[in-house]
Amino acid sequence: MNIPGVEDLRVYYEGRRGLFGRKDGVWALKGVSLSRAAPLGRLAIVGESGSGKTTLLRALLGLIKPTSGVVSLFGKSWEDMTTAEKLSARSMCGYIPQDPYGALPPTLNVLGAVTEPWNIVHNRAERAEGVRRAKELLTELKLPEEMWNERVRYSLSGGQRQRVAVARALILEPKLLLADEPTAMQDVSTRAEVLDALNRRVRSGMSMILVTHDLLLAGRAAERIAVLYKGEIVEEGESQAVLASPRHGYTRALLAALPRLE
Ligand SMILES: Nc1ncnc2c1ncn2[C@@H]1O[C@H](COP(=O)(O)OP(=O)(O)O)[C@@H](O)[C@H]1O
Ligand SMILES: [Mg+2]
Repeated sequence: MNIPGVEDLRVYYEGRRGLFGRKDGVWALKGVSLSRAAPLGRLAIVGESGSGKTTLLRALLGLIKPTSGVVSLFGKSWEDMTTAEKLSARSMCGYIPQDPYGALPPTLNVLGAVTEPWNIVHNRAERAEGVRRAKELLTELKLPEEMWNERVRYSLSGGQRQRVAVARALILEPKLLLADEPTAMQDVSTRAEVLDALNRRVRSGMSMILVTHDLLLAGRAAERIAVLYKGEIVEEGESQAVLASPRHGYTRALLAALPRLE
């Protein structure tokens, strides 16, 4: 698996004219690079709200054009890809967006939302296989069968919607999964189901970039951690090393803020 390349990535959001006058622009990412030293496996990007995590994921997916710097996927930078190459790169990626409310097609039912990506890339003859896979995923993610025909917009909790988004991201068996706080809306038991489902795919060869604000979750769910703070990576390394001897003051502060087992 080619490691995604991120070199000196900067993203500036223009200010907007808001209700209360002009809002200043912000540098969401201020020169982010990711190490290419280690095989990708599972990388967690950890940081507080507003540190630029979602921006980094969206730039990796080619959904945001960098203000400067280079982002490459599967060995080629987004800028150098042809339209066909971009489509192919996207189809090899699964994306679990942070906000499952905005991200799921509101008019579809649960089964329809999960099979939609499949139906875009496969022809009619393969529809039944898509439905079979979707049902398997929904069962694995503990979404009961009586829910499969419910509309996504109504009658689903945040956690259930998020699990639908997970199934939708996995149905094409991505080589690389980009997961933005995929368990933020889960309770303890369904959180384990989601992480188990992701880890099963990792064991069969999928790579994963997991965004979370939870340093302990990052340590458990990924071999490597990159700590993002105010648009910069302040620390990157093997999870155990980062947790055992954090080098940056911000990482230490995150650790110190964790509840302690007495
Ligand atoms: N579309 C946008 N327009 C303007 N500012 C944005 C936009 N998206 C994010 N930002 C700002 O960029 C910074 C990083 O946001 P984000 O990448 O969402 O961080 P995180 O996911 O870590 O919470 C924040 O200051 C946020 O307010
Ligand atoms: Mg975010």
